[in-house]
Amino acid sequence: MGRGQKKRIKTEELTDKMDKIPKHVSIIMDGNGRWAKNRGLERLAGHKAGVESVRAATEFAAENGIGYLSLFAFSEENWNRPQSEIAGLMELMIDAIMKESSTLMDNNIKFEAVGDMSRLSSNVREKIREIEKKTAENSGLVLVVFLSYSGKWDIIQAVNRVVQQVANKERSADQSVTVECFDKLLNTSGIPDPDLLIRTSGEQRISNFLLWQCAYTEFYFTDVLWPDFRKNDFRKALDTYAERERRYGKTGDQINKIN
Ligand code: IPE
Ligand code: IPE
Ligand code: MG
Repeated sequence: MGRGQKKRIKTEELTDKMDKIPKHVSIIMDGNGRWAKNRGLERLAGHKAGVESVRAATEFAAENGIGYLSLFAFSEENWNRPQSEIAGLMELMIDAIMKESSTLMDNNIKFEAVGDMSRLSSNVREKIREIEKKTAENSGLVLVVFLSYSGKWDIIQAVNRVVQQVANKERSADQSVTVECFDKLLNTSGIPDPDLLIRTSGEQRISNFLLWQCAYTEFYFTDVLWPDFRKNDFRKALDTYAERERRYGKTGDQINKIN
């Protein structure tokens, strides 16, 4: 085998490997309450322990060339939890944002929050805006935190924006809405759809998360509770993803270019 040929194979292998790294991994971080209960602790202790898993997952994503890591931290439905748990969670989030701010800067990570910010306290909102502004120019991993978010809320606000545009005569009433134009009206505009969605704690449901954006996402469920989730668990999810064949409606032969 000539030197050139050897080099080409190596490059092809590398390209193949890179192809298997998802551009966007999204995680439904679930099981904090059960983790705490198993230890006879308050639910909040589980949320606190989960912060270390967020750190590990972020580090892993940055180390492995994942472009976007998004985390479902608080859903619209989570507002129905006991007031004390909500307050504890909010405090914990502010605390984590403040503490991790320099780590995000040191590692060139851009922070973005997505959700119905109007429901958050002005203090939480302020801290979020601060960290978003501070990390806005970072060009490495994009860390998206979904807060006070639900998929139906996102879709409905996009529909209402179309209605508003027509009412304001910014769009003619007979102009059809396209998928591309709708994408831009969602709060996730600019963020690629997730390639891989991980849910911890054994639950196998979407819980009103990214309904539109998960149209062709690969799902991975693990029994590991979120506070126990570490880099080796993330690695297992990526290994499983690498084995999947994403067909987008085509046949397997078409994907493998047979015939
Ligand atoms: C996920 O853990 C964190 C949030 C939803 C905020 P849970 O709090 O849902 O934990 P379980 O499902 O009760 O174990
Ligand atoms: C989904 O978890 C929301 C987050 C992880 C933030 P939940 O634990 O609230 O979901 P359900 O209600 O059990 O489906
Ligand atoms: Mg849960």
